[in-house]
Amino acid sequence: MKTRLTELLNIEYPIIQGGMAWVADFHLAAAVSNAGGLGIIGSGGADADWVRNQVKSCRELTDKPFGVNVMLMNPHAPEIADVLAEEKVAVITTGAGSPERYLKKWQEAGIKIIPVVASVGLAKRMEKLGADAVVAEGTESGGHIGELTTMTLVPQVVDALSIPVVAAGGIADGRGIAAAFMLGAEGVQCGTCFIPCEETNIHQNYKDLVIKASDIDTKVTGRSTGHPVRTIRNQLTKLYLKMEAEGATLDELEQLSLGSLRKAVLDGDKDMGSFMAGQISGLLKEQVTVKERIVSMMDQAEALLGGKK
Ligand SMILES: Cc1cc2nc3c(=O)[nH]c(=O)nc-3n(C[C@H](O)[C@H](O)[C@H](O)COP(=O)(O)O)c2cc1C
Repeated sequence: MKTRLTELLNIEYPIIQGGMAWVADFHLAAAVSNAGGLGIIGSGGADADWVRNQVKSCRELTDKPFGVNVMLMNPHAPEIADVLAEEKVAVITTGAGSPERYLKKWQEAGIKIIPVVASVGLAKRMEKLGADAVVAEGTESGGHIGELTTMTLVPQVVDALSIPVVAAGGIADGRGIAAAFMLGAEGVQCGTCFIPCEETNIHQNYKDLVIKASDIDTKVTGRSTGHPVRTIRNQLTKLYLKMEAEGATLDELEQLSLGSLRKAVLDGDKDMGSFMAGQISGLLKEQVTVKERIVSMMDQAEALLGGKK
């Protein structure tokens, strides 16, 4: 399946692994790139030294292209932007805002830039500024989310842009890839389906929670603060939603969720960890290697898109 995205990124399959804060370190990114997709290191709230070390470690495990995701609200984002330009990583994806102020520096370093967008307006702005592609991410996704669904967002972004569009949110098998291509996407970005993979460097409880989750087991917290996040429901989401309904302040909510990503990823604290994952969790029934996941997705997608089924 050659598309403008596979050509642009010099990858075999049109699959980008979403940069997931705390979850996607160099182990996962290298495994995805070695399997023919584009692996992404999620830099989340980390500092610039952590990012540089991750890039170096990833280069030891793969000679294929890989990228780094920059969360623009991270206070360390300006230093991380410099490190990535120095290291000349192949690709940068960005989340939580507009990467406008860094684009020139990254473009001069020859880096391909793929912002994640949740609206047509931001997508158009990114194209105008010279982005190489965009990820149109629907509200089904795990982590920080927008309002529109993948089904509604992707075709509208495709119609508005001429650069390649990558669909994200709710894609975890070949049917999802085929559907995204029918909507006009030239690639997909997947996050949740890589959580229960062998190479993902997180607590086993996190992987098991995603495998055990059903279709209705994610909740969105943080709507009252303007920063909605989708996670697997547990004691923490119950308390958080109750406090939001009772009009808790931002400070009170922050106190409740302080350190909850660490509790999920490192401690596997099923009650009070923040286990970010998408609505497609219910489809994922077993732990596999990254290569098995990607090959089975691509086989199914190619059969469907080739009309063979
Ligand atoms: C655990 C987790 C953490 C995430 N962290 C980030 C992040 O730091 N930056 C970002 O741009 N997107 C982040 N995302 C979104 C993913 O990169 C990706 O776009 C999304 O997972 C796709 O939807 P899916 O979960 O339905 O596959 C995260 C998603 C998950 C599940």
